[in-house]
Amino acid sequence: MSRSFVAKKPKLRLDDEVKFLSSWLQNPLKTGAVSPSSPALAKAMAQQIDLAIPGPIVELGPGTGPVTEAILARGIAPERLITVEFNPGFCALVKKRFPGVHVVQGDGYALAETLGEIAREPLAAIVSSLPLMTRPMHVRLRTLKGALKLLRPGAPFIQFTYAMTAPIPPRPNRYALSASPRIWLNLPPARVWVYRAAV
Ligand SMILES: C[S@@+](CC[C@H](N)C(=O)[O-])C[C@H]1O[C@@H](n2cnc3c(N)ncnc32)[C@H](O)[C@@H]1O
Repeated sequence: MSRSFVAKKPKLRLDDEVKFLSSWLQNPLKTGAVSPSSPALAKAMAQQIDLAIPGPIVELGPGTGPVTEAILARGIAPERLITVEFNPGFCALVKKRFPGVHVVQGDGYALAETLGEIAREPLAAIVSSLPLMTRPMHVRLRTLKGALKLLRPGAPFIQFTYAMTAPIPPRPNRYALSASPRIWLNLPPARVWVYRAAV
């Protein structure tokens, strides 16, 4: 039976800010930000999920869960959502905060290996907050190619960055790319990039 998720009014969670900052101090390149994403950015990410596409949804790098919350607030059943997070403290937090969501501790850059048998059917969307820009281009490309293979045809790989340019340049014969306007209600302002395999 699927559980419904009632979105609470977003509030500034000071303890989340502290958890995030301390994760960043321990490992800045892996955490990739000093503060959790704003509700505006999280909503813009979740908005890119196509509700007509069936199958599981994977979130990469949920951190303290702002994007997880926005995904569930779109009416997606928690049981459909699989989060993949490297940091065990964030995994424990997401598990506690979002009952029913499948939390996997592992490497989002090696998604097929990390998911193994967990995601047997093709995915409806991948929503990524991985700090892609801290990784070399060949790792970004490998991550995108691997992700697109796990998705249903036409399903999106959704990524935010703080950069003005795309994290992986467009290659129209291999994948289509679209970008949101700059989202100013986030610190720092960000953009949402959506990749889909070319048909
Ligand atoms: C920029 S933060 C975003 C956190 C959250 N989604 C948000 O928007 O506030 C990046 C997240 O990716 C996680 N992360 C970093 N490397 C990872 C990896 N290889 N696999 C899975 N998660 C990773 C970090 O621990 C952190 O939670």
